[in-house]
Amino acid sequence: MAEQGLHQDLAGKLLAWYDGHARDLPWRAKPGIKPDPYHVWLSEIMLQQTTVATVRDYYIKFLSRWPEVADLATASQEDVLRAWAGLGYYARARNLHACAKEVVRDWNGEFPDTEEALRTLPGIGPYTAAAIAAIAFDQHHAAVDGNVERVMARVYAIESPLPAAKPLIKEKAQALVPKKRAGDFAQALMDLGATICTPRTANCHICPWTDNCNGRKRGIAESLPRKMPKAKIPTRLGIAFWIERDDGRILLRRRPQKGLLGGMVEIPSTPWEAKLPRKVAGPVEASWTKSTLLVEHTFTHFHLQLSVWKTSTTDLSLPDHGDYRWVHKDELVHEALPSLMRKVVVVALK
Ligand code: ADE
Repeated sequence: MAEQGLHQDLAGKLLAWYDGHARDLPWRAKPGIKPDPYHVWLSEIMLQQTTVATVRDYYIKFLSRWPEVADLATASQEDVLRAWAGLGYYARARNLHACAKEVVRDWNGEFPDTEEALRTLPGIGPYTAAAIAAIAFDQHHAAVDGNVERVMARVYAIESPLPAAKPLIKEKAQALVPKKRAGDFAQALMDLGATICTPRTANCHICPWTDNCNGRKRGIAESLPRKMPKAKIPTRLGIAFWIERDDGRILLRRRPQKGLLGGMVEIPSTPWEAKLPRKVAGPVEASWTKSTLLVEHTFTHFHLQLSVWKTSTTDLSLPDHGDYRWVHKDELVHEALPSLMRKVVVVALK
């Protein structure tokens, strides 16, 4: 089959499959209804680095609290970070807020409808711009995330490893985007990767592309995509200080805006380094009880092991430096505590 015909054949089969098997996702417009760019944008930002299953409830919560982009733009950063707590990659939340403000200020509250203009907005990189342009505005773009990379590597039996294979995969995906229904095509490809052509199992017997799949024909589908071995990441150590006042309040600190977990709330801790400091200085002078349980958490570039040291105090004053507050134990759930710090709370309360 000539290349053009093959592309049309693949796109047609995928769209026909999607019409019967699209996942019912809260951010997805019903067939025949124009998607709301705010919904598409919000979901795409949340879905960067986070699974559909985790995003669902957060998406629903955000939309009911801030139904329009203008509502989100007028929210406080504190409220946005608090609502985001637990989703991780907190720069996304700060950029989300900045982007909402920019859309209201510079774009009259309407998201721009081209990939180029979308890319100028905070938190919108090449993938997200392509996804929003395709899904919200039916523009002729392929949105290539990890699921789509896997599907494309298999259909075309691309054996060169990721990340080197990315440009070729992107080119192949772009060539498949049909003239009409680019948005449905983008979502169909994501659904195919998420529900049929999954990492461990390719499920070729129920795949709409089974007849065209070179990976299947060569018996290598499930071994694709190949990946360069990941570099080992280092482990860092730290101590979190759980300081409880007589009235049940716990000492919290806001992290600086810049850097890891910027602007989020934490149980005060030492810097996280390869070694623990030789002389440990907590936020208060105290005698400490050291928990036997370690808190472990993996960030993009390092593993972290935190020890939890506990003490109680009758002193009602705050350390006279930094962004400290006393918050009652029962109120911690309402704070912008990232997952790592929620683990610290669990260990401290054991
Ligand atoms: N992953 C990234 N974007 C997505 C979307 N719009 N639908 C489902 N999964 C996705």
